[in-house]
Amino acid sequence: MRQYKALINNELVDNGQWLEIMNPATLEIAGKVSALTPDDINKAFSVARSSQEQWEQVELLKRISILKRFRDLIDQNKEEIAQIMSEEIAKNLKESLAEVERTVEIIDYTFEEAKRIEPMALTGEGMGAKNKLGVFSRVAKGVILAISPFNYPFNLAFAKIIPALVMGNTVVFKPATAGSLVGAYMSELVIKAELPKGIFNIITGRGREIGDIITSNPEIDMISFTGSVGIGNQIRKNGSTTDLVLELGGKDPALVLDDLNLDKYCDEIINGAFGYSGQRCTAVKRVLVNNEIADKLVPLLKNKIESLSVGMPKDNAFITPVIDEKSADFIQSLIDDAKQKGANIVTGDKREKNLMWPTLIDNVSLDMKVAWEEPFGPILPIIRIDTIDEMVKIANDSQFGLQASIFCQDISKAILTAKRIKTGTVNINSRPQRGPDSFPFLGIKDSGEGVQGIRESLLSMTRYMGLVINY
Ligand code: NAP
Ligand code: G3P
Repeated sequence: MRQYKALINNELVDNGQWLEIMNPATLEIAGKVSALTPDDINKAFSVARSSQEQWEQVELLKRISILKRFRDLIDQNKEEIAQIMSEEIAKNLKESLAEVERTVEIIDYTFEEAKRIEPMALTGEGMGAKNKLGVFSRVAKGVILAISPFNYPFNLAFAKIIPALVMGNTVVFKPATAGSLVGAYMSELVIKAELPKGIFNIITGRGREIGDIITSNPEIDMISFTGSVGIGNQIRKNGSTTDLVLELGGKDPALVLDDLNLDKYCDEIINGAFGYSGQRCTAVKRVLVNNEIADKLVPLLKNKIESLSVGMPKDNAFITPVIDEKSADFIQSLIDDAKQKGANIVTGDKREKNLMWPTLIDNVSLDMKVAWEEPFGPILPIIRIDTIDEMVKIANDSQFGLQASIFCQDISKAILTAKRIKTGTVNINSRPQRGPDSFPFLGIKDSGEGVQGIRESLLSMTRYMGLVINY
């Protein structure tokens, strides 16, 4: 039985309390992690505070060389980490390993980008001032709380943790319950890497039980959160005096404006909609297309969807069980609602416990829940719309504004349409995606607040410190 402990001040927590983590594929216990108490949590923040100043005083290149020891241990243990991840979130082994390898690349890129966070020098004249030389550097904010979601338990954790640490902050990290085995597995690597005591603390426990205790801790200088809108709003309330970066839900539309490359459009839409069984914030969660093109697109999508492998993560199936029964029930409820309101189930609508077959729903109307809600599952709704103006309106009427895709060979038409879409990013002729991680990644409206991405994270976890020399 896998059993990993939380980490506070470089010591494994031994409070005798455990949280069992289920394997969504086998519905058996995948392992257990420490279940922390409020006192444990307060201690984590206290040591993060007391170790921060000394850590920030370590020069940047020295911080990088210390953190590189940790990075090397991740790389050396990447297969084990991928195996653990696959067991606890039912991500297939190939994608799990790819996530760990992508994270090592993010860490390396972050180390290099941190060296480019240069001070800004300004001469000051005008507005009543003169003979001033200002030098503005970026310095650590202090104690950063990093909270990650279940679907990228490694990538979306270290995309926060590493920029924070490399810039001299200290970190309290809360992994998702489903993702905590991978999260707490890091405890032993932190000790092996001999990171300075207290700079990186890993706290585990069920969010609904300890979440408010965590986010209302007075030692927090910044919260970097990725997860659902509901929890994001709860954090806004609790952490109201704290700097926040929130990466939340999405309902990314794919607008298909011509039929000049339907085969490629289908591949992009299918990978976008069904990658990791649709459990991605940037998944394609609705297709907006006119009738004429839809009549050609839907049969193509059907054939390709029906060739996707459905099964278990250990067999590298493309579609694997969703994270838990509650999610599967919610996803099924959206399919049932669409059926009851007259949608056409082209393929799918088949379920075995948490395993849900990829479902293509045509003739989705705007009164159906699946037109607006985030399934976070393997569903692709087709909404047939006559004009581009109407497509843009429906795209923008969503509460979400994460990303969008436009499929069109006329690049001018694609760009002019993209400029009208109210999202953080619009992808032309590709599925929505956060990568490459060096790109700014942001959501507007209910999809988030602030910006992630390697350079943006380095900046959001630091503040200006100005030195003005008068002569
Ligand atoms: P979630 O249920 O909101 O949980 C996210 C994290 O918040 C988990 O670590 C969770 O811990 C923790 N949490 C729960 N209650 C909390 C509280 N009261 N205070 C503080 N933290 C609390 O989201 P999820 O199910 O893991 O991920 C799915 C959602 O995240 C979807 O909406 C998806 O769109 C969004 N997401 C967005 C992005 C993006 O980059 N925009 C990326 C991935 C996912 P527990 O697991 O212990 O509850
Ligand atoms: O839901 C996770 C979000 O960050 C998507 O990442 O790289 O699959 O687009 P990606």
